[in-house]
Amino acid sequence: MYSPRTILAIETSCDDTSVAILMGRKVLANITYTQAIHEQFGGVVPELASREHDLKIALCVEAAFKKIGWESNEQGMTKIDAIAVTQGPGLMGSLLVGLTFAKGLALSWNKPLLGINHMDAHIYANFIDHEIAFPFLAIVVSGGHTQLVRVTAPFEHEILGKTRDDAAGEAFDKSGKILGLAYPAGPEMDKLAQKGDRSFLNLPIGLKNEGLDFSYSGLKTAVLYAHNNLVEKHGSGYITAHINDICASVSHAITEALVVKTQRALKVHPNIKQVVLAGGVSANSMLRSKMEELAKQLGFVLAYPKMEYCTDNGAMIGITAQLMPIGSTELNLASLELQAYARG
Ligand code: KG4
Ligand code: ZN
Repeated sequence: MYSPRTILAIETSCDDTSVAILMGRKVLANITYTQAIHEQFGGVVPELASREHDLKIALCVEAAFKKIGWESNEQGMTKIDAIAVTQGPGLMGSLLVGLTFAKGLALSWNKPLLGINHMDAHIYANFIDHEIAFPFLAIVVSGGHTQLVRVTAPFEHEILGKTRDDAAGEAFDKSGKILGLAYPAGPEMDKLAQKGDRSFLNLPIGLKNEGLDFSYSGLKTAVLYAHNNLVEKHGSGYITAHINDICASVSHAITEALVVKTQRALKVHPNIKQVVLAGGVSANSMLRSKMEELAKQLGFVLAYPKMEYCTDNGAMIGITAQLMPIGSTELNLASLELQAYARG
């Protein structure tokens, strides 16, 4: 299934500049520069993100070469078979930096260029270290997306459900912001939640009894009201004293929606025996342990990527490129356009 090519892969869709080199399925280097500049603004500032990518992208390529002992561009040029780059979805300016850089390299090195869909790549990140059997259900949970995807063959996807408003990562980040956590709040909330009592607050689970779509915007409002009520009654010190419990309650509400919908999707598609977690939120420990439990209970095989392949990274772009049949999908430069918006 995997092509034996050596691929240079570039990802710049949001606020991580990442470059990977893969030989077949093996990740030789995966260098990621995460932009810290956005923390002070409580969210990603698109203009700053593009500028940061522009400053760092060549350095990331150099660092990737260095990691595997390639001394120069010359060596890279001779060893690389193709270049893969994120085509979308993502921030327009951020995507343009990666895409333009990749086009330049492809042109000057005379290499084929493969355009990769970022959401496909989150799903196929699971293929780096696992044997995944088709058909499978992918739970795609990132800062911008929440989708249940039925994958029947490489690149044959059916979206069974998606969020009607906020994404799961967004729910972590926005709730965390209300609680005074730095952006992105997901990882910190995960850590604090591990020491907390998830029954401390009773928060809503959006669309719990209805279909396969998600809704997280009500949760954000509920967290805001709960926060304000607690401060009014007990003072702001109470929030600090119970931050672990509040984070555990928020994490429970976000992850429970994913568990309920997964369970429902598997009922509708009983021939699916494999489930994968994908996207930044797949790093979440409560989600992982709840899904492990569900896997035992329902008898499906669960996979999730290694931590470094959960959030945005070049390796997931590279592995997705390796799943494309040689020759048939390589685009010429003129036809490789930006896909700034999500499909489906
Ligand atoms: O996939 P990703 O790196 O970027 C997008 O494509 O959006 O996902 C970033 C999202 C952020 O919302 C971040 O807070 C969340 O993933 N995230 C987590 C964890 N690690 C990253 N959310 C909860 N628990 C985590 N451990
Ligand atoms: Zn992503």
